[in-house]
Amino acid sequence: MSTDTIDESRSPAPGPVRSSSGDPILVATDVHRSFGGLRAVSVDHLEVERGSIVALIGPNGAGKTTFFNVLTGFEKADGGTWRFEDHDLSGKPAYYIARAGMVRTFQSARVFPRLSVLDNVRLGAQNQAGERFTKALMKWSWRDQEAELAERARELVEWVGLGPKAEDFAGILSGGQRKLLELARAVMAAPRLLMLDEPMAGVNPALRQALLEKISELPGEGITVLFVEHDMDVVSAAADRVVCMAEGQIIASGTPSEVAANEHVIEAYLGASSGDLRDTRTGADSSDGEL
Ligand SMILES: Nc1ncnc2c1ncn2[C@@H]1O[C@H](COP(=O)(O)OP(=O)(O)OP(=O)(O)O)[C@@H](O)[C@H]1O
Ligand SMILES: [Mg+2]
Repeated sequence: MSTDTIDESRSPAPGPVRSSSGDPILVATDVHRSFGGLRAVSVDHLEVERGSIVALIGPNGAGKTTFFNVLTGFEKADGGTWRFEDHDLSGKPAYYIARAGMVRTFQSARVFPRLSVLDNVRLGAQNQAGERFTKALMKWSWRDQEAELAERARELVEWVGLGPKAEDFAGILSGGQRKLLELARAVMAAPRLLMLDEPMAGVNPALRQALLEKISELPGEGITVLFVEHDMDVVSAAADRVVCMAEGQIIASGTPSEVAANEHVIEAYLGASSGDLRDTRTGADSSDGEL
């Protein structure tokens, strides 16, 4: 198998698969990652049900972003296996994982500042015929596809409410607008699992409800969602299931109300000096990334 293509023969993942609750799109088992002596991620088992919206919560430093980084190939795991649909993606590089259909956004949105908003979204498209030599020779098919992708990119820019800024340089967008752009670009990649790291952070409060509704629409488009969020109101409104991490481990999982009432969860948040599950931060990291 070439390393830059997805294995269509779909080799089964190694390792144990514990109790399955129906039709998981993602199953992660014994995933570990430490930095020096710090155990950032130590997840025994996680399943994400196909067609669901799952929220990943946990106090600051719980390991949520590191877990995302490991699962999506942006950080190396010390050990563990994870299977997406029938692909064993354990230890695979980021581009391979994205092409398999597992696409993520970043806590600090990453944009190409000197490209337009529209072009930034357009670049999210994967597996385009124009990228492949043989198809590129078939100019007409390539041109048709280019037009289709341009139209799709425009639709998605409108979908996230950035229509009026479509032709502007992405570099002028606020942190919250960059998050919207990143969401559109991630959907442009036609994922089947979308992993959003704090998609609401820094988004103008007036837009948050609309964004939440957009995210809630995704399963209807065949996109399962796993998202990191701190605000329990948002989690309760959008998530079918909530998973809580603390000190690298999954300490609770269940419906939003079950998890909010879980004593280990309350303890973890109290230990993190927050009196309730609500995070009061209003902005994304100040270091919004540029590509
Ligand atoms: N590259 C790194 N080198 C060293 N330590 C790291 C690195 N990345 C993360 N950590 C540490 O790993 C732990 C988990 O961090 P992580 O960013 O995954 O947490 P988080 O749950 O996403 O937190 P937040 O809610 O603040 O985004 C933290 O203690 C963090 O300082
Ligand atoms: Mg994080």
